Amino acid sequence: MNFDAKMREYIELVNSKLSVYVPQKENLQKSIYEAMRYSLMAGGKRIRPVLAMSVCEMLGGNVEKALPYACALECIHTYSLIHDDLPCMDNDDMRRGKPTCHKAFDEATALLAGDALLNRAFEIMSTYGTDNDCTVEVIKYVSNNSGTEGMIGGQVVDLMCEGDGNVSEETLRYIHRNKTGALISAAAMIGAICGNATDEEKVKILEFSDNLGLAFQIKDDILDFVGDDELLGKPTGSDEENDKTTFVTLMGIEKAEEELQRTTKAAKAALEVFGAENEFLCSLADFLLKRNF
Ligand code: IPE
Ligand code: IPE
Ligand code: MG
Ligand code: MG
Ligand code: MG
Repeated sequence: MNFDAKMREYIELVNSKLSVYVPQKENLQKSIYEAMRYSLMAGGKRIRPVLAMSVCEMLGGNVEKALPYACALECIHTYSLIHDDLPCMDNDDMRRGKPTCHKAFDEATALLAGDALLNRAFEIMSTYGTDNDCTVEVIKYVSNNSGTEGMIGGQVVDLMCEGDGNVSEETLRYIHRNKTGALISAAAMIGAICGNATDEEKVKILEFSDNLGLAFQIKDDILDFVGDDELLGKPTGSDEENDKTTFVTLMGIEKAEEELQRTTKAAKAALEVFGAENEFLCSLADFLLKRNF
């Protein structure tokens, strides 16, 4: 199967399961389900669940085993986007091609929808995970990488550095590895755990995902600078407006492109040990390098 067809297959699987795991309810609090589904089902590239499932398959594992955890991680990612867009954070009005959650509803609803997606993620993993040992190991990774030593840590430093003209490259790498890379690594580790990776294989998968996560955020920085709002489904120029340091402001667009190429190459190199089975993931790394959305 070619890359595009495989991508579509993974995405359809994720979308249909997400809709089951986060249904619309008709109870007194139904507005929270509306807000959760508004952001969750609005599209999105579904890169994290695709990564979880494809790493699992690369190792000869069954995608169905990784699927509940993959969907849970997409809920956590969506919560991080809802909160990232709030006026107290990046203050953005568009996401996934639609008005952001706080624009379509209100700030309190957006705050609670994010919280609710985070909680639902852990409910999904503990309810639908089919292997208890796997569930405990996945929850350990996902909770750590979503928290203060992962995504939240990165977001804290990202906000702290707004308006600071002297952010070092080391600090910027910390921000990118954590605000974005941590969930990308959690996705890859879901695949590794569900695919029964050996300790040596886990090291390689983490090396891959660490580089891929960094590359992913460098590309995000580049697209914020040169991308197209319509294609991206979110406003460009947000980083400049918030006075953020990015790979583009720090080293210029050409060097940032070089760094993107270099980290993508390093990501793919880490997968060499998996031989021909690495084909989809290498194509995914190239797809993310070239994307314009
Ligand atoms: C956006 O993530 C936020 C970052 C971590 C850069 P994605 O680019 O994966 O957003 P969606 O899920 O496709 O909307
Ligand atoms: C966001 O980074 C990372 C998280 C949401 C955790 P950005 O703030 O650069 O993401 P976008 O550009 O708004 O999607
Ligand atoms: Mg942000
Ligand atoms: Mg943002
Ligand atoms: Mg951005």
